[in-house]
Amino acid sequence: MGMISMITSGKDGVGKTTVSILAADSMETIGKRVLVIELDTGLRSLDVMSGAYGSTVYDIFDVLSGRCSPEQAIIHAPTPRKEIYVLAAPYKNERVQGEQFVKLVTALGEQFDHVIIDAANHAGALVAASAVSMNAIVVATPDPLSVRDARITADRLRDLSVPNIRLLINRVVPTRIRMGLIPNLDYCIDNVGVRLIGVVPEMDEIALAAAAGRPLPRKSGCRHVFDNIVQRIYGNEVPLAVE
Ligand SMILES: Nc1ncnc2c1ncn2[C@@H]1O[C@H](COP(=O)(O)OP(=O)(O)OP(=O)(O)O)[C@@H](O)[C@H]1O
Ligand SMILES: [Mg+2]
Repeated sequence: MGMISMITSGKDGVGKTTVSILAADSMETIGKRVLVIELDTGLRSLDVMSGAYGSTVYDIFDVLSGRCSPEQAIIHAPTPRKEIYVLAAPYKNERVQGEQFVKLVTALGEQFDHVIIDAANHAGALVAASAVSMNAIVVATPDPLSVRDARITADRLRDLSVPNIRLLINRVVPTRIRMGLIPNLDYCIDNVGVRLIGVVPEMDEIALAAAAGRPLPRKSGCRHVFDNIVQRIYGNEVPLAVE
């Protein structure tokens, strides 16, 4: 059985899908076969960020409602990705049926080394993903509103008994922290109240890789940030620093 992890947030648009696909890339480099499921309703971006745009015919709700098989809906992300597969969110707005989702992901967990659920915080997605995930990563930016919503989300995940809940702070600009324009990382960690799993800087390379649907370039200065986050997901101690 592979590992199942969810990546979620309080506020929308803080980088869940970006982190999901770039973490999948780091898992691939350590030999994992990874499936990323975008569990959102009415919106999708994983198809673009994984490079699979235009290849998706079916979505997660087609599978859950029996309109197609998982094999028909799961797309292989194109080269240079080799062992990454995606299951897209639908364009229409539907509510996630928790029981069917748990059954589906449990079965898919037999076929992949890691299933990452990119879970929106609405329409039943958080509850459904929580029911099947061993790890939850709550993504927040250092914006006080994002931090407050991350706290509420972390509390919900605790109520939903997700075993391992961690915080990822994304889009960090150290100069803004030094100038006192945004709260520092201790403020974020203390206010969300869960252990930190990583700090991802605001970088053009990340936005460009996401928009182009490609992994970060090999020489990119921030690849190791995602490699270290993945090591921590697997329980390995990697010192935390603002990387
Ligand atoms: N560390 C980063 N540096 C620069 N740009 C980033 C970073 N993280 C995310 N972005 C950009 O922020 C935007 C939102 O990211 P993304 O779509 O991953 O967020 P999301 O939480 O999945 O959004 P939604 O709630 O709509 O699903 C994207 O344009 C992405 O390229
Ligand atoms: Mg998203």
